[in-house]
Amino acid sequence: FPQAFIYDLDGVITDTAEFHFLAWQKIASELDIPIDRHFNEQLKGVGRMDSLNMILKLNPALSELSEKEKQNWASKKNEHYLELVETIDPSHILPGILELLSANKEKNIKIALGSASKNARHILGKLGLTAYFDYIVDAEKVKKGKPDPETFIVAADALRLSCSDCIGIEDSTAGVEAINAANMFSVGVGDAAHLSEADYLVSDTSKLVFEEIIERYQQANA
Ligand code: G6P
Ligand code: MG
Repeated sequence: FPQAFIYDLDGVITDTAEFHFLAWQKIASELDIPIDRHFNEQLKGVGRMDSLNMILKLNPALSELSEKEKQNWASKKNEHYLELVETIDPSHILPGILELLSANKEKNIKIALGSASKNARHILGKLGLTAYFDYIVDAEKVKKGKPDPETFIVAADALRLSCSDCIGIEDSTAGVEAINAANMFSVGVGDAAHLSEADYLVSDTSKLVFEEIIERYQQANA
């Protein structure tokens, strides 16, 4: 039986992945770099500065931006993001998530967050979910972001569990890669086009059914 579920935040617990995209799109268009949803799949799960650098790479003329200018653009992105998430409340918890968290509690399975966001605690608070979490990994706690496994390893270590006893849930390519690299069972939420590496894939959060996830985990560990 697994001992912990480690949840990604943006795009799994709530749809802030969309707000990150809209905020980056605004910044990118100010920089004269059009970005679309297809490109955005590469940004999902990736930290703020790394995301900005990936966008800047699309326009070679902007590769010369100073550190200070980059910091400015990153702050601008975050200001816009914070405006977009202002109205988030518990009604923005994605379908199936509260049921899954409750099932974890009922079965005494630990719950952790594995997010690359500096805003993770702020968002969890707005959703009214902070109390569910035994441990929170956010951008402050890791040096190497996803797809590096550090986020998930730090969470398992803090819970004093081995990675093979944990299940990670992710909506991003980088995140599924990170879970797999940690030797953890990976649950992908979304499209097979981006998440084909997931050990178990569901199309959206409403399909995250506790018993089904456990069954798949046990099959994989049999
Ligand atoms: C998550 C999101 C990314 C975001 C990153 C940093 O990984 O999926 O889209 O860029 O967090 O978020 P932050 O709130 O620190 O800018
Ligand atoms: Mg995500």
